[in-house]
Amino acid sequence: TIHIHTKKVKCPTAPEFYGLFFEDINHAADGGLYPEMIRNRAFEDSLVPEGCTTDPNQRIFITEYGWPGAFNHGEGMDEWAAAVPPSEIPGWYAKKASFRLLQEGTLNPNRKAALQVTFEPGGKIYNIGYFGVPVKEGDRYRLYFMAQSDADATFTAALESEEGTDLGSCEITIRKNTDYHRYDCELTAGGTDFKGRISLTCDTACTVTFGFTSLMPEKTFRGHGLREDLAIALKNTNAKFIRFPGGCVVEGINEQNALRFSRTIGPVWERPSAQLMWHYRTTNGLGFHEYLQLCEDLKMEAMYVCNCGMSCQARHGGGFSEETTKEYLEEALHALEYALGSADTPYGSLRAENGRKEPFRLKYVEIGNENFGPEYNQRYELFYKTLKEAFPQVIYISNGHTERENLPTDYADEHYYDAPEFFLENGDLFDDYDRNGPKIFLGEYAVNGGNTIASMECALAEAAFLLGAERNQDIVRLTAYAPLFQNSDYTAWKPNMIVFDNHQVYGIPSCHAVSLLGKYRGEEVVEIEKEGEEQPPVYHGISGIMCEKEGLLFKNTKVNGKPVEVSQCIYGEVERAEDGWKMIFGDRRHHFTGKSREWNEAFETFIGSGSVYEKPAMWAVFGTEELEE
Ligand code: AHR
Repeated sequence: TIHIHTKKVKCPTAPEFYGLFFEDINHAADGGLYPEMIRNRAFEDSLVPEGCTTDPNQRIFITEYGWPGAFNHGEGMDEWAAAVPPSEIPGWYAKKASFRLLQEGTLNPNRKAALQVTFEPGGKIYNIGYFGVPVKEGDRYRLYFMAQSDADATFTAALESEEGTDLGSCEITIRKNTDYHRYDCELTAGGTDFKGRISLTCDTACTVTFGFTSLMPEKTFRGHGLREDLAIALKNTNAKFIRFPGGCVVEGINEQNALRFSRTIGPVWERPSAQLMWHYRTTNGLGFHEYLQLCEDLKMEAMYVCNCGMSCQARHGGGFSEETTKEYLEEALHALEYALGSADTPYGSLRAENGRKEPFRLKYVEIGNENFGPEYNQRYELFYKTLKEAFPQVIYISNGHTERENLPTDYADEHYYDAPEFFLENGDLFDDYDRNGPKIFLGEYAVNGGNTIASMECALAEAAFLLGAERNQDIVRLTAYAPLFQNSDYTAWKPNMIVFDNHQVYGIPSCHAVSLLGKYRGEEVVEIEKEGEEQPPVYHGISGIMCEKEGLLFKNTKVNGKPVEVSQCIYGEVERAEDGWKMIFGDRRHHFTGKSREWNEAFETFIGSGSVYEKPAMWAVFGTEELEE
């Protein structure tokens, strides 16, 4: 028996309890949320990352700490890509034309390569994009490139099918010029092929050097340049904040590739690229300004993770020199001023120049990611004190455990990746947390071990754990499943909350679980008491809206004719059936069969009422509608 003390409020619920954790992992940015359609648009993908050497086989590079990373160009990553012959310039192919990769005479000092092409008359170059250029009938696309040429020439730019059929083209005339010039054109697709490509065919013999290229869909989310269906998928999670831009990418593979705010703002062709932890380069098109704009467009609070003068300790060494650490501190100060300063401040005025006069919202800043030990504590303290003094309105988050060192800590970030059993056994983890310590940010969690991943079993185990956190919202203030996005054609990490290819998207069961948990939110957590033997375990986190007269008023649904909302409760049983599951609730039975995608679909049809977990037998009521019966 669970007694719900409907008139005893334990604490108000946390306003941004459910959030998202965006990291450029699995091509989540370029070729994902940032819908660049040209792979290797800056021609830098095959360069040895700064501060690294290469292995003789040229597919591996070595950091100064010895940890090898791979150059993954996409070729060979999946069946389709394996069918495409590798190219010496990843993503780019030539017919009646030849390539030369230049590392001098580039577009600007931040560009480390340019592509020189010698065309025969009728010669052509093409790009296969991120597992195909997704061309959709009726859609419009914007192409531009910066180039210099040794002769006047006319190019036909064409959206093509996988077989090379013209699906929409335009002409671009370029002039003989020893400086780089920008050329633009718009293309309308007259057909559909999601494995298409973009080509440039030249009418004459000439040598052209391309400094930068880009192809983007004309229609983007709120016109702010991001892929619409993926942004809508984010909105549908009902999350209230976004943590960005990582994760390990903040720490970087080394000092040269660690995240710097200043490299992610301004014209995209001037932003330096960086080799990410996840084996590919980013061109930083999805930068600080774009993240803040996205948060605003989705009505979510922003949480920026800054590098604290350290690389990934687990794999790449540790702290940077004192001097470099100070540079990173300056970077963090500049980032905060860019977001929050008035247009009269140096970085606020840069924001205004970039099209945004009013400050953005930036509520949370995390100092480092997954850094630890004395090296971290020393840097954390420096960052915390300096940033807090300059921007006291921001809530600062540590990488956890700083409180044990008596360091000032607003929120501490804890990460949990484990098997379902761990999450089920730790539903009570936060019940006994020290109430005098910092607030907790459950910054990364996911079932990523055990028999299945991305399954309903995992979603339910996570939900059981989250209910324990919900019950303790006086101390646990924020949560985020991790990571967020997976390009199904390029998977470096599994599982991920939202899976996409170049034209489709779906959420794994964990995504639906948090969407439901985030949708049904009360305003107050109430006291409860349990009585009797608990077999099987009951996971609960009960909240509602306190109403003076009646005590806790639940909304939306009715029990015995009275309005009720049980925000989240888990109860019931599930049975294994020969071909799937049988879920039993009162006299109602829900029968699911199949695995993975079918499971997700089944889950969606059942959304609003439940999910299953095999051991111990139980099922979950995440929503409310089904309770009406
Ligand atoms: O979520 C994937 C990775 O897991 C993150 O980059 C890192 O913070 C954690 O180790």
